[in-house]
Amino acid sequence: MVEKRPLVEALEQFHKKKPISFHVPGHKHGLLSNLPQPIRDSMQYDVTELNGLDDYHHPEEAIKAAEQLLTKLYNTDKSFFLVNGTTIGNLAMIYATCKYGEQIIVQRNAHKSIFHAIELVGVEPIFVSPEWDERSKTASYVSLKVMEEAIQQYPFAKAVVLTYPNYYGVSSPDLENIIRLCHSLQIPVLVDEAHGAHFRTHSEFPKSALLFGADVVVQSAHKTLPALTMGSFLHIHSDLIDSKKINKYLRMLQTSSPSYLILASLDDARSYVERYSPMDYKQLMDRREVFLEALGTISLIEVVQVDDPLKLLLRVGKYSGFQVRQAFEKENIFVELADPYQVLLILPLLKVEHEYAFAEIRKRIKSAVDQLKKENPDGINNLFQMEQKSISTLEMNMELLSEKQGEWIPYVRSIGRIAKGMIVPYPPGIPLILPGEKITVSILTELEDWLDKGALFQGEHRLEEKLIYVVED
Ligand SMILES: Cc1ncc(COP(=O)(O)O)c(C=O)c1O
Repeated sequence: MVEKRPLVEALEQFHKKKPISFHVPGHKHGLLSNLPQPIRDSMQYDVTELNGLDDYHHPEEAIKAAEQLLTKLYNTDKSFFLVNGTTIGNLAMIYATCKYGEQIIVQRNAHKSIFHAIELVGVEPIFVSPEWDERSKTASYVSLKVMEEAIQQYPFAKAVVLTYPNYYGVSSPDLENIIRLCHSLQIPVLVDEAHGAHFRTHSEFPKSALLFGADVVVQSAHKTLPALTMGSFLHIHSDLIDSKKINKYLRMLQTSSPSYLILASLDDARSYVERYSPMDYKQLMDRREVFLEALGTISLIEVVQVDDPLKLLLRVGKYSGFQVRQAFEKENIFVELADPYQVLLILPLLKVEHEYAFAEIRKRIKSAVDQLKKENPDGINNLFQMEQKSISTLEMNMELLSEKQGEWIPYVRSIGRIAKGMIVPYPPGIPLILPGEKITVSILTELEDWLDKGALFQGEHRLEEKLIYVVED
């Protein structure tokens, strides 16, 4: 049985009328499109804010009803559907809490959208470094101790911005105490929970930051729930933040032509969470266990389990994650990301009725590993660990930085220089170098390690020519 989905129902009702389109979008229900037929079919539902379909920025009907159901499910003051991803939620929550020149405490391994928000608003970031998690070999959560020190040094910070869980599914044992500490000083806690939209489905998943009392939580519904790419949720549950202010920035920052396909998929994703039963979870875990056992019989494969059971880290002997990803892709298995150590798989949040070809996948993984061993008898094995000061600020503030000239120099000669461009290994999309930061030996060593292992980069760089962008001396 499908629960109420007001937005999906409104869209279906509208489609049933066989409407004639004299409005945008120009593809006219797919008629003018030369895209493949399955895509054209779905374009019949790609409509705009017409009578009966409500108004995204001033919802009164179906969108309002659907967002109310979301608000009720997550037990918040107000929850929103976002059509521009968690990226836009991150921007809106920072715009709504801080003004130009104010200080904000930010977890250093945040997504680039957080750094973009900081730059756009012109706030002064105080970076707090995460712990190194040896099990997943990733930068994970900020400890209570580091946060206590940061708050003691910067008691006038306007907000604390955390990422929870990290990309790899590592949660935080300190989150609840950090939120309590911040609230005792009236500092709101904003959480980028892009990778935790499914936590609400069962108590065995890590808890959502909402349950620990976070003020604003943004979740990429499209990452682990059955929502279309760009569909996210933003939740507010706070005595410290005015939901009207966040609403204002969401209206300013988001498109005035929302995709009804995305909106309907968010309504459906909310209903999926609501209907996800303990039986669904149990069966998913049973199937996962069988898959893990099957993977365990493939020589060289090590499976690392993290806090979120939907995430699996696969390591293959001495091969880097990039080599493993390439081998998997030859078997048409596409992973979420590769890093120097491993590849990350995101399992589907299956319900009892879903089939999934785990046995076939195991066969292909085995064949990929066999091929990898044959083609590359020698893997790469010089692994690194991020090293950072636990609390740091920018060497040069963004305003001054924008007035300075930049120059391109070989990165090997950049130690001690101030970066003018952002360098982001992608995925995971966590900046390695931020504009305004001083380039240190450890940052450079990490950059060389990423390059050695064939990582891809976003940001302002010419790494293929071994050049990076720094402030002119
Ligand atoms: C931690 C984190 N925050 C935010 C984002 C951006 O999310 P979205 O793609 O929904 O805009 C990502 C995307 O990978 C992410 O990993």
